[in-house]
Amino acid sequence: MIPRYIVDFDLAKLPRVETDVIVIGAGIAGLFTAIKSSEHQHVLMITKKSLFESNTRYAQGGIAAVTSDQDSPEFHMQDTLNAGAGLCDSEAVKVLVHEGPHGVQELIRLGTHFDEEGGQYALTQEGAHSQRRILHANGDATGYEIVRALAEKVRTNPSITLWEDHFVLDLLTVDGECRGAVVQKPDGSRVAVFGKATVLCTGGTGQLYRYTTNPEVATGDGIAMACRAGAVIRDMEFIQFHPTSLCYPGAPRFLISEAVRGEGAVLRNIRGERFMDKYHPQLELAPRDVVARAIVNEMEGTKSTYVYLDITHQSPELVQHRFPTIYEFCLNYGLDLTTDWIPVAPAAHYMMGGVRTDLHGETNIKRLFACGEASSTGVHGANRLASNSLLEAIVFGSRIVEAIKDIAACEPLIDMASDHNRHSAPAGAVIERRLKLQKVMVRCAGLHRDRSGLQKGLDELKRQLPLLNTCLSTREELEFANLLTCAVVTVESAMAREESRGAHCREDYPQRDDLEWRKHTLWDRHHGLGEERLSDV
Ligand code: SIN
Repeated sequence: MIPRYIVDFDLAKLPRVETDVIVIGAGIAGLFTAIKSSEHQHVLMITKKSLFESNTRYAQGGIAAVTSDQDSPEFHMQDTLNAGAGLCDSEAVKVLVHEGPHGVQELIRLGTHFDEEGGQYALTQEGAHSQRRILHANGDATGYEIVRALAEKVRTNPSITLWEDHFVLDLLTVDGECRGAVVQKPDGSRVAVFGKATVLCTGGTGQLYRYTTNPEVATGDGIAMACRAGAVIRDMEFIQFHPTSLCYPGAPRFLISEAVRGEGAVLRNIRGERFMDKYHPQLELAPRDVVARAIVNEMEGTKSTYVYLDITHQSPELVQHRFPTIYEFCLNYGLDLTTDWIPVAPAAHYMMGGVRTDLHGETNIKRLFACGEASSTGVHGANRLASNSLLEAIVFGSRIVEAIKDIAACEPLIDMASDHNRHSAPAGAVIERRLKLQKVMVRCAGLHRDRSGLQKGLDELKRQLPLLNTCLSTREELEFANLLTCAVVTVESAMAREESRGAHCREDYPQRDDLEWRKHTLWDRHHGLGEERLSDV
């Protein structure tokens, strides 16, 4: 059902570009991996928009790492494992928490300024962390500061060639090895790029959902092209919904950082009642899936589309100083964080699954690596601990760089063509198709799921699949094809997991089932669904 290629091409007729390392994507994973790789090799970095358009750029809360004497990697590991609800790969988590502090030092060396207080890093707390260990920048603009620092390095680095506004269509593979990719240039013409290693840093799938904190670019392109190339995709049923996105007429679903609750904000239903004590001993700082579901429960109980976030008891100076971006954003809509309760509701935020990798970031396809949200390294399990994602990108980015720095050259790939007899482009505006897909996903694979809803959703999605065999050329069409691919894998994985665990909540299987389900779901193009016990990892 999922074709090998999304477009037809003939390598013999395409212009060719050769490099050492191809990095696809420009969030923290792409920027960091490109910079570090460029110390050894030439890098071609490709992004479909600009260096300033990625999920990273919008990250608020920060980056979790052990930097204080009161904290330890063991505490960080335990918090990560607890949030992951029995599905983390403990070796990957060990790598994350032990190599994380060094990774943060690297970010600082590359020009990132984290906030300080009294000569120490200012640390905040977020849900399910037992310690204050989250570094942040300019209050609540951590992602922006990281992108600012790293983008500056990329732009001035003679060993990195940067292609912005270029869309990677498909990976080129032969004999189980990745050799490069076919890329569409801004003018619509195509070029083949070849490298000794290709690193997917293409981010997640937030745009699968009507309500998301993710920018428009989060369309799962890397997951979909890896799928087409035969990579193993793991745990796609686990989608994290952030509990508190702004929910106000006319405003986008802007993220209201968990750090606001970390600094004391409380949740109230529309009757003004604080409610988290009914749901979890950690109250507003319970794991994200618990808080998100509690909010939905309160919304349903009060027939409302939102609850309130209240930080009005804190001093206005603290609120404005710690959360300048959120404060200003809300003020644009007439909401004053220091005096008003802010209407919020959950929104899709992060994909725990992705392209399965080993501890060095390599996928089952040789010379193909994945990093950041596009990857499934095993650190997040069924539910990511807040602020672990930026850390994962730099820790596993560094490991990828080590793994490929001496990688051998490969034979040039000369002949290869995809000729599929595609029928003409589908009728109907692609923007409407995307909206429809997003609504289907909210209905069938949102915070609550059950077999009949998932089946109905899957049937609707599958009716669209013939589109993957048509002539697609605009960025919107290609993104829709990628979203559709990711949607099918997500829903099939969600149907397969007949239990509730972490971010995956099945109303027809409300219990966690460790006997049967302490395992990962796998998906690949040749075999469809499969599974992997934790002991096989
Ligand atoms: C937030 O600031 O609440 C988001 C942090 C994260 O998703 O890790």
